[in-house]
This record gives sequence, structure tokens and C-alpha cells, in this order.
Amino acid sequence: MLDKLLRKKTGENGPSISDRLTKVKSRTIPSHVAIIMDGNGRWARRRSLPRIAGHHEGMKTVRKITRIANDIGIKVLTLYAFSTENWKRPKMEIDFLMKLPGEFLTTYLPELIEQNVRVEMIGNFDALPPHTKEAIVKAIEATSKNDGLILNFAMNYGSRLEMAMAVKEIAQLAVNNEIAIEEIDESLIESHLMTSHLPEPDLLIRTSGEVRLSNFMLWQLAYSEFSFTEVLWPDFDESCMLSAIEEFQMRNRRFGSVEGDKGN
Ligand code: FPP
Repeated sequence: MLDKLLRKKTGENGPSISDRLTKVKSRTIPSHVAIIMDGNGRWARRRSLPRIAGHHEGMKTVRKITRIANDIGIKVLTLYAFSTENWKRPKMEIDFLMKLPGEFLTTYLPELIEQNVRVEMIGNFDALPPHTKEAIVKAIEATSKNDGLILNFAMNYGSRLEMAMAVKEIAQLAVNNEIAIEEIDESLIESHLMTSHLPEPDLLIRTSGEVRLSNFMLWQLAYSEFSFTEVLWPDFDESCMLSAIEEFQMRNRRFGSVEGDKGN
């Protein structure tokens, strides 16, 4: 199956996915790629299907992109699957979205294990329905010994909530005299974020033509490269992922310095 995929052509005369993959792997690979998976609803509407059909198709894209991310050698793939604001959606849609981790992780767990993928989650776990929690815990436990790609689901995640929680924890340490106010610095704040054990994203991808962050990893994305594409998430495929990485590899990351500046 992978062979077939790798033989697939980018275009009539373009390089194959396999050739592009080889080239991408020979250059600097982003360690952490974060994706705002957007456009499921529009994908469904264009086909006169209910919105949930778009989410279901989006789930298949998650499988596809996990596989190519692993092949590329990306270390962490964080996917924005449900935001703290998504509770405002119709109940039927929320119920469906809450069932998707169960379906995805049950169906593809053997494949994830075989690919040495480790499943993790960031977000407010406690507020998830019991069946969603069970599926996530099962996948986290079953893949906990894997040391390949970290597939990190941002589920009931909101960056402002994450920061508020970090501030509360740090304030409590100060109240308990366990830290002095002078000790509060960037690295202490980082150590209280849900991503404290992960590198910052090198690359953020958002699909569907929307150009905003929607309360996603606001702290962590401070120096990330952004890639926005018009492609709707269910249509985002291996070629799109490689294009985003190729675009990243053309960028000159300066992190606030002038290194590489041609001297203007
Ligand atoms: C935004 O598109 C998408 C979401 C809120 C849900 C994303 C979820 C998935 C892609 C499936 C996740 C799979 C697993 C395994 C957890 P939208 O509905 O806002 O699209 P629209 O802007 O076109 O309406």
C-alpha cells in the first residue's frame, strides 16, 4: 500500500511523492508540526452532506498525515481536534466529534503501534465524556512504550485556559513560599504548560484558507513558521503535507537575530 502511495505522482510531470520525500528528508526537518485541521464542514457542504460527514472524512486524513509525518521523521505532530470554544456547536455535532477519538484510536491502534507512534493528549481531559476519556487513555497506555512520532491530540484545548491554569499553579507555589516572585521567568511558565515536555512547534499549518490562530498554542507558536493553505482538511494529503514542509525548508529562521540577513 505504501509502495503504491510512494509511486503516486505529484502532477503529470512533477516529481513523485517518493522523490519529494527523499529530498525533504535530506534537509532540515521540523521537529514539531502543529496543525489546525479546518474545513470539514465546508467539505461536507460542497457535497450536500451533513457536517459530521466532513469530520469523518477528516479523521481519515488524520491517519494519512500521521503516516507521512512518521515517514518524514517529524518527532511531534500536534493536531487541534477540539477547542474549548467548540462546545458552542450543536449537540449532535459535539457528540459526533467526541466519538471520533474512540473510532480512530480503536480502528487504527494496531497500525499506530506497528508504526511506533506514541499517542498523547493536551487539553482539559476531565471535562471530556467518559467514552472519549476511555479511548484516549487506552491509546496512551497501549503506545506509551513507543518512541517514534508523538501523535499529540489537542482535545478540549484552549491556549488561554492553558495559560490561566499555569498562572494559577505558579501563584499557588508563590503563596506556599515554594518559589520567590523573582523566580518567575519564561522557563518557569513553560514548565507549567501542557506542552512542557515537548519542543515548540517549528511549523504551524492551517487548512481551509482561514488565517488565524483560534486560541491554539499562543505561547508555543511565538517563533514558529506559519503555512496557510486553501485546501480543506479532508482533501489535505501527502502531497500537501510535503508542500508545507518544502515551504518551511525554504524559510530563513532568525529567531529575532540578524543571522543570514543580506545586510539591508
Ligand atoms: C474544524 O472544521 C474542525 C473541527 C472542529 C474538528 C476537527 C476534527 C477532525 C478533523 C477529526 C479529528 C479526528 C480525531 C481522531 C480526533 P470546521 O467544522 O470548523 O469546518 P468549517 O469551517 O468548514 O465549518
